[in-house]
Amino acid sequence: MSTVIRNGTIATADRTYKADVLVEGEYIAAIGDNLSGDTEIDATGCFVMPGGIDPHTHLDMPFMGTNSADDYESGTKAALSGGTTMVVDFCIPGNGQSLLDAWADWDRRSEKAYTDFAYHMCITYWNETVREEMAEVVRRGVTTFKHFMAYKGALMVNDEEMFSSFRRCAELGALPLVHAENGDVVAAMQQQLLADGVTGPEGHAFSRPPRVEGEAANRAIMIADQAGCPVYIVHVSCIEAHEAIARARANGQRVFGEPLIQHLVLDESEYFHPDWDHAARRVMSPPFRNKKHQDDLWNGLRAGSLQVVATDHCAFTTEQKRFGRGDFTKIPNGTGGLEDRLSVLWTHGVETGRLTVNEFVAATSTNIARILNLYPRKGAIAPGAEADIVVWDPKASKTISAATQQSAIDYNVFEGMTVKGLARYTLSRGEVVWQDGRITAQRGRGRFVPRVPFSAESQALRTWKALTADKPVAR
Ligand code: URP
Ligand code: ZN
Ligand code: ZN
Ligand code: ZN
Repeated sequence: MSTVIRNGTIATADRTYKADVLVEGEYIAAIGDNLSGDTEIDATGCFVMPGGIDPHTHLDMPFMGTNSADDYESGTKAALSGGTTMVVDFCIPGNGQSLLDAWADWDRRSEKAYTDFAYHMCITYWNETVREEMAEVVRRGVTTFKHFMAYKGALMVNDEEMFSSFRRCAELGALPLVHAENGDVVAAMQQQLLADGVTGPEGHAFSRPPRVEGEAANRAIMIADQAGCPVYIVHVSCIEAHEAIARARANGQRVFGEPLIQHLVLDESEYFHPDWDHAARRVMSPPFRNKKHQDDLWNGLRAGSLQVVATDHCAFTTEQKRFGRGDFTKIPNGTGGLEDRLSVLWTHGVETGRLTVNEFVAATSTNIARILNLYPRKGAIAPGAEADIVVWDPKASKTISAATQQSAIDYNVFEGMTVKGLARYTLSRGEVVWQDGRITAQRGRGRFVPRVPFSAESQALRTWKALTADKPVAR
């Protein structure tokens, strides 16, 4: 079975050109002029781009006494409707739970997936068993380990635990990820704010100012340098964290930064909204910032100091958010975005001239495929790549509304925003999974995508660290 995508303009991370794409089975077989196949997809007026990869989702995640409302079914439907063909979700061991046990739990969750998926494994405590299990986790194809520097008393790890885990990552050729916020300071400030009578969602923003994130980003970067591994900072929201990353990169460190689409376009005024529900629905960590931080994140995408735009999709219903009425520290943290990431980034990035089409492809797909050591299997329009393709209509537009979304929650943080740029077709491993506003895929068709350790960058860093290591003085 073959399909030819005709009359479109191919846009990759490094070039834009007119050509047909021939898909055979699950792979791209050829690119050229006047190709023919069993069926045809008309891409007139469209860009043909690698499917989006969202490397930061929490589907059906147990968190703050509840589970995020979008599971692998509604979450991955949301993804493919918006042109995203792969998600990387966080597998989180419960208190003292073994990593492999947690993985088995996540495999049960992901049985319903419509898109391909991978996992990051979270390190939420440290002991010898965890150290040993990490090797098995890598052997089975999960090569990224997440560390929370916040959520004290729950997911947070301390510097000693992080350093142990980062050193293990260096040995295994794995990449550590970090949620950078100083969790001790956040916890103390939360208590102070509550004692001072600040109980609403604005307290969430007050308790997590930018310097709290900047300090943690600097600390994580230092620990990675000492441990000899690269590091990837998730949900970079502010100048202080971006500065830490840019400075480290300028100093030769292998550091990556991931802003979220929400932080790029929504600001802190959301938390001062008179409607409690409106404000609480936007509670996430780190919180939204002001315009100067937003501008700085956009600049980082252009400058290359920030590489990936993700969502941290962690959707809670209004009812769930209301657990925190009277105490902002109990509002489940997280927002949605999986469905709208590409359209919102296109509208506010490409349409405004902040990003080129190629920078858009890099930020939504190719860069993360490289960082995850999946390129060019994913993230590429090239012969031999898996045919994860979005046929993107830059003229199509819609107004975002919870009433028409795939996500299971009852609101959308981008409600009322008119976006330009929509997926006309989405293909996942050669199969049309979204067409003309409809899902055409089967539940459970998504596959786990195993990865191998020692990306080119982690190998290069290993070589450099060995060469420049401290050596004893021969006396
Ligand atoms: O508020 C957020 N970001 N919720 C999801 C968990 C995390 O910190 O990534
Ligand atoms: Zn986080
Ligand atoms: Zn509202
Ligand atoms: Zn997250």
